[in-house]
Amino acid sequence: MTQIATTTPGGVAEPLGPELVEQYRRDGYVLLPPDFLPGNVLDVVASVMPDAMAQDTPARILERDGTTVRTVYGLHQTQPAIAELTRLPALLGAVRQLIGDDVYVHQSKVNIKAPFAGDQWEWHQDYIYWLQGDGIQKPDLVNVAVFLDEVTEFNGPLTFVPGSHTGGVLGGTTVDGMPVGYEDAPAWVATLTANEQFQVSPSVIEDLARSNGLVSPKGPAGSVLMFHPNILHSSAANISPFRRAMLMFVYNGVGNSPHAVAEPRPAFLADPDAVALQPS
Ligand code: SIN
Ligand code: MN
Repeated sequence: MTQIATTTPGGVAEPLGPELVEQYRRDGYVLLPPDFLPGNVLDVVASVMPDAMAQDTPARILERDGTTVRTVYGLHQTQPAIAELTRLPALLGAVRQLIGDDVYVHQSKVNIKAPFAGDQWEWHQDYIYWLQGDGIQKPDLVNVAVFLDEVTEFNGPLTFVPGSHTGGVLGGTTVDGMPVGYEDAPAWVATLTANEQFQVSPSVIEDLARSNGLVSPKGPAGSVLMFHPNILHSSAANISPFRRAMLMFVYNGVGNSPHAVAEPRPAFLADPDAVALQPS
């Protein structure tokens, strides 16, 4: 049984029971049911989506067709209602349990995966981008994905290799140059497209998948998927007629804030404001 919502005698919310914390440490992810969050969260997100998707700024990434919105970054910086959601006690309590520190949001985004047109994410780990791009020294971050639609086997669920987060940064190669369709974009766009810049070796992926298996966490809209930045993951293109949008917050510990890098990425990819969030 899923264990949810206990409060310590001191009043500090620890929403994840010990089994869920253990599951996260062992498998690198945990899937929580919709009632983990307040009932109005999906309505709040839906109310800002049209405005967020309409903003023609560098924080909006299109699919290679040049018209379909793939991702909008920085929602916690541009949409006050989303900033509020990052401070929900259930989310802050859970990520504090997993990270062991006060936390702030390093990056937020909504991945749309439009019906028929939402493209893939190749196999990758997230942390190498935050290490090499943003100077974050330890992989002690937590991805929180709120399902904005039901996620099924048909609409491009995330796929994980459970337990693959325990091996650190996996072997692979770095691809130079810009992916097809994004030739004229700024260099940092290369890290955001369907083709990953840091390519994990196929033999490494195969060995891990053979020994650990594959899993695609699925569930109704409002479900919350927390996953480790070193878990090996991918997601397939959405050729179904159903959208598969996810709101994603990347929480980092305040003690793990970025070190200086030669070419800092835009603030919508790496928030420089590493101040501890207080519950709303
Ligand atoms: C990710 O890899 O961070 C997201 C992929 C997805 O939205 O399926
Ligand atoms: Mn990823």
